Amino acid sequence: MRTFPDGEVYVRLLDEVQGEDVALVQSTYPNDKVVEFFLLQDALREMGARSLVAVIPYLGYARQDRRFKEGEAISSRALAKRIELDADRAITVDVHNERVLDYFHIPVTQVSGVGPLGAYLKGRGVEMVLAPDMNASRFARAVASVADCPWDYLEKARIDAWTVETKAKALRVQRKHVAIVDDVISTGGTIANAARVLKEQGAATVTAACIHGVFVGGATDRLAICDEVVATDTLPNPVANVTVAGPIAEALRRKP
Ligand code: R5P
Repeated sequence: MRTFPDGEVYVRLLDEVQGEDVALVQSTYPNDKVVEFFLLQDALREMGARSLVAVIPYLGYARQDRRFKEGEAISSRALAKRIELDADRAITVDVHNERVLDYFHIPVTQVSGVGPLGAYLKGRGVEMVLAPDMNASRFARAVASVADCPWDYLEKARIDAWTVETKAKALRVQRKHVAIVDDVISTGGTIANAARVLKEQGAATVTAACIHGVFVGGATDRLAICDEVVATDTLPNPVANVTVAGPIAEALRRKP
């Protein structure tokens, strides 16, 4: 892999793939990884791969899953169209919005990082799991079931891409080791607000945990209020301490 001075991406396959069944593992974030992914798919087909499974641990562009305003691109559909041009099958992890999967015409398997994340939090002695908003409730509930502890959720109002407000709610978190669990952390605003509420209510420690750690625009500073931040390895980052390799390998072994 190389990047030219103008930012264009170059890829070259060094291994023999003629007649092989290949799994290409690449998240579609940030944008240059999307291009890299498409170039690799093309090269694999060109070099005679017999079949190609697109393993996309973090499937980006899942927020723009429909046309909210006239003239907008349906980004997740555009991405799906290009991926399935060269792939026979896709595997992804905890997609932000399941509607996105309907845009694929190839079999797609969705696996979850909830099991490994729950096991990690259990090992860290977490006593309660909180979802920072209603949407994240399904993750929090599933993680709490693995971590074997109670769960609850907060209510959030999103003002804009950078600003969120968390409504006050009485929680039984006094002197407890609490984890806030979300599918994605981007700017960290959602988690930081929730962490503040938990600390104000007397939580002993607050761990921020997510499946996909995007961490942009000062997220690290915003998350300094947390005692620990942990993510799975769907994206590379310094806190990707929980692996989803197990569920992905299992899905690869199974027929779709
Ligand atoms: C929202 O629907 C997601 O589950 C996350 O809560 C959100 O993407 C987190 O964004 P941020 O870290 O920028 O608050």
